[in-house]
Amino acid sequence: METGLLGALSRKNFLRDYWQKKPLLVRGALPGFQGLLTCNDLIELACRDDAQSRLITQGDGGWRLRQGPFAPRFFSRLPKKNWTLLVQDVNHFLPAARELLLKFNFIPHSRLDDLMVSFAPDGGGVGPHFDSYDVFLLQGMGRRHWQISAQRNKRLIVDAPIKILQEFEPEQEWMLEPGDMLYLPPGYAHNGVAKDNCMTYSIGFRAPSYQELVTQFLVYLQDHTTIEGMYRDPDICLQFHPARISSAMVRQAGEVFDKIKWNLADIERFIGIYLTEPKSHVFFPPPRDPLTQKKFSYQIKKNGLQLDLKSRMLCKGRTIFLNGDGYTVSMAAFRSLERLADCLVLPNVQDFGDEALILCYQWYLYGYIEILGPSGSLQT
Ligand code: SIN
Ligand code: CO
Repeated sequence: METGLLGALSRKNFLRDYWQKKPLLVRGALPGFQGLLTCNDLIELACRDDAQSRLITQGDGGWRLRQGPFAPRFFSRLPKKNWTLLVQDVNHFLPAARELLLKFNFIPHSRLDDLMVSFAPDGGGVGPHFDSYDVFLLQGMGRRHWQISAQRNKRLIVDAPIKILQEFEPEQEWMLEPGDMLYLPPGYAHNGVAKDNCMTYSIGFRAPSYQELVTQFLVYLQDHTTIEGMYRDPDICLQFHPARISSAMVRQAGEVFDKIKWNLADIERFIGIYLTEPKSHVFFPPPRDPLTQKKFSYQIKKNGLQLDLKSRMLCKGRTIFLNGDGYTVSMAAFRSLERLADCLVLPNVQDFGDEALILCYQWYLYGYIEILGPSGSLQT
């Protein structure tokens, strides 16, 4: 068996039969899993301004959404039931969350979005809805009752502050216990209601809409296109209606637009930059007292290095993409750096040559990577 995470199913068969196709329930995907953080830890994260958090409450007046960051005292005033606190990107704060995400590396890193963690007391939930992402819903502490439906009716309640289906016709249901996991493909209707104090870990996979991809590609092209010349009309004709745009003007503009060209290399570069671009609220504090290049190289050869938890690193061809920039390197440097992109933590970098070491030093100064401590812990 390749991994216990999918039960008896191999990763290959999961991709063939379930991924983006149909739901999968895995009992005991992570046996004994009780979660990575407590409710108080989650509340602490929800009070930070570098974390994205939401509180959803359900009362007589309908659904209510409040965005974080929250003041700590806010949570002492909450009712006993019917609310959910959700925090995105928990993997930016918790090394254990990154380790959990690595268990899902049978899906390429380019598709991964984040780990979202929710806490809800008895009765809490975010209502029947569907997501446009693939998601693995891993149960931590407590139990959650899930209902799901392949329904085609996707009409939403018009005035609700969150996406709630007008009608929900559940077809299957289960009670998930700690360590159980439910995979849902995009667009699958679902509703999870907490039984007891309940924490759910959502491993979400991004899928940009075509519109978003095209819009962002056009932004990329804008920065990477230079077209010489200027509009000219030495043969201009006398117009009876001076307000009319002439066909010659439209033709000339069309000829210039035909000069906008891109090739496979542009598409590769755009995708790498787009997928590794940090979200707008993410910042990388540089090291307070940076080492010299020589000391840095010595330290990482001795102890190893790791990506900052917020860093996103992908590669294609001989280009390494890190946090929205592309670096094209020699094959030898590529092999070393690709290992970092695959594993995120490298206790051993003895094979790193000068080119890789110089780049790593630059990334260390940007706050993108860190030196590991002697026992694999972070060196301060
Ligand atoms: C939750 O954790 O409460 C919501 C997860 C989801 O339905 O996507
Ligand atoms: Co959902």
